Amino acid sequence: MPYVTEANLTDLAIERWQQIPDPRLRQVMTAAVKHLHAFVREVEPTPEEWFAAIDWLTRTGQLCTEKRQEFILASDVLGVSMLVDAINNRRATGATPTTVEGPFHVHGSPELANGQNMAEGAPGVPCIVVGTVRGTDGQPIAGALLDVWQTDGEGLYEAQRAVDEPWMRAVYRSAADGSFVIRTVVPIGYTIPMDGTVGELMKRTTISHMRPAHIHFHLQAPGYHPVITHLFRRGDEYIDTDVVFGVKEQLIVDFEEQPPGKAPNGDMIDEPWYLVRYDFVLERKQQAAAAA
Ligand code: BEZ
Ligand code: FE
Repeated sequence: MPYVTEANLTDLAIERWQQIPDPRLRQVMTAAVKHLHAFVREVEPTPEEWFAAIDWLTRTGQLCTEKRQEFILASDVLGVSMLVDAINNRRATGATPTTVEGPFHVHGSPELANGQNMAEGAPGVPCIVVGTVRGTDGQPIAGALLDVWQTDGEGLYEAQRAVDEPWMRAVYRSAADGSFVIRTVVPIGYTIPMDGTVGELMKRTTISHMRPAHIHFHLQAPGYHPVITHLFRRGDEYIDTDVVFGVKEQLIVDFEEQPPGKAPNGDMIDEPWYLVRYDFVLERKQQAAAAA
């Protein structure tokens, strides 16, 4: 092996990291070494700056617990989470696009009948979401599961409330004609957690730390690719600057204001409320994959 110079160091490191039997790990580590060296060659950090970066990563790791994942948040605000999501969910034209799941999904939400209220007792303006779940061929999908979660009308998720019962989340099931009816409240935009190392970094930028108002959905039906996505409120002040790059054009919906009166779920609502209409489209899995 030739001795090290500034000029040959990257090639030497790449060559050394070829010594990995697993071909995928070898590919990953070769790219990691190559791009990390390119980054350092471009930035030329001082020792103090390199230590500051290592210190930031160390403190980011120290913040991670079962309830908090600061590295995922870092990946979210850098746009990496949405890129990984896009690469792994290249769906057929017309299928509902995906977005990141985010940290607030809770497994095991109660199953509610169509039209039941998942925001019982929560603050906020009433909102009814109606639509269908269909395949890309337009055929309705019966019995699709819609796992739904969102903030209440004060911008808080269950994890941010001191509650013992499920809060602002439920599972609905599409009817025989593919239709669903959800009663909830209008979500509002909120800030990502700013009290950690990601917040510390964001405060040194002029980047918005807000997410536009949205409702999260995880849709599943046998034989179809699952879809994790959000519906965003058109006109939201943060729609063009979502801090986690989650907004896709096909996921922006109108929240149509309605006068007090009878809602599509049969409820009499004695204040103005909002109606959202959306048809989800799922792509069938390949036959071979579906059989597997
Ligand atoms: C969310 O929508 O719940 C979320 C997604 C990514 C980072 C923070 C929050
Ligand atoms: Fe969210």
